[in-house]
Amino acid sequence: MGLSMSAYDELIREINELYEKTPRHIDGGILGSMTTWPHQIGVYAFMKFIHVNGNDPVLFPIVKECEEKLVRELGSLYNAEYGLYTSGGTESNILAVLAAIRATGNRVVVAPSTVHKSIDKACILLNCKLVKIPTNPLKPVDPVLLEKYIREYNPSLVVVTAGTTETGVVDPVEEVAEIALKYNVYLHVDAAYGGLLIPFLNKHGLIKTSLKIGRGVTSISVDMHKNGVAPIPSSILFFSNSELLENTCFEMEYMPAGRSCGLLGTRPGGAVIASYYTWRAIGLKGYEENALRMMNYTKYLYEELSKIRDVEVYPYTLPIIVFKSKRYGLELYKILWSKGFYLYKAPSLNALRIVLMPHHRREHLDRLLGVLRELHS
Ligand SMILES: Cc1ncc(COP(=O)(O)O)c(C=O)c1O
Repeated sequence: MGLSMSAYDELIREINELYEKTPRHIDGGILGSMTTWPHQIGVYAFMKFIHVNGNDPVLFPIVKECEEKLVRELGSLYNAEYGLYTSGGTESNILAVLAAIRATGNRVVVAPSTVHKSIDKACILLNCKLVKIPTNPLKPVDPVLLEKYIREYNPSLVVVTAGTTETGVVDPVEEVAEIALKYNVYLHVDAAYGGLLIPFLNKHGLIKTSLKIGRGVTSISVDMHKNGVAPIPSSILFFSNSELLENTCFEMEYMPAGRSCGLLGTRPGGAVIASYYTWRAIGLKGYEENALRMMNYTKYLYEELSKIRDVEVYPYTLPIIVFKSKRYGLELYKILWSKGFYLYKAPSLNALRIVLMPHHRREHLDRLLGVLRELHS
């Protein structure tokens, strides 16, 4: 039954009303989420292909074409040739664990305690044993300790993070990769957050890690819906070889392709096309500019927060600032949310966390700083 004109208008009015009440990145209050305001080209592509099922590359070959081009073109940044689109860092991490288990039959995974919770999720789902290396959330994992854990637990896979969720710390990927090679274990680098920052910061001498596939690194995940500025959901999981990639696929006889790769069934094909065109619109130069601008803002925020009495700021690696208020403690979280500043917590440090994303502008930071100065005056 079709909608009457007035019922249609009523629904539109309700949707618009809800939209007005929903926080928007471009207004500057979203300061803790690792998401951003998607690029308009990505939004256009997503809307245009909103009807496309990404799980059916035979009916909709454009999805496969865009996925392959994205893997090939963006993959060159990491020396990667193989990979697939996924719905996000969580799916990428689960698939990286799955690929290693399928390749070896060994269900032991070793990771620093700072690893993203999706690795815990992966191990619950895949019935693997996750051994965590105690790691200070403000420091990278200690390679010597990591080697000791590999010797003791004989894992199939080690997972490290290039930009941890809580503090943005980058684990020593190259050193860990040497160790992974020595013990013949797979190494997944979770660069969901840092993947589109680190290569550029490395180029400018701001960070040591270079983030490349090969020489011990067997997979890297990079979220397009974080610093890639693509609409949600979008991530790319790169592999060092086609066998590992193949391990993410399942038989699916009734589908025209007879198979399906990744965890989801029916999925938004528009998101894959949107990611590819977002990449085309922004390009390496645009991502590099974003990364440098975000680092500048981070430095500014760090310096200004350090000047506020009763505020303790922790050192940063990537555009994530963790700080504590000696006056308000975690109560500050509630106060800021009530004023429209949506920061997140850094639970292991009992602190608050700001993630600077591509949509942030200097005035957004100044507004937050103004409120923090006033609260601590
Ligand atoms: C390092 C890291 N890995 C994985 C994830 C999970 O990504 P998603 O929320 O896209 O599933 C996040 C999310 O913040 C993350 O920071």
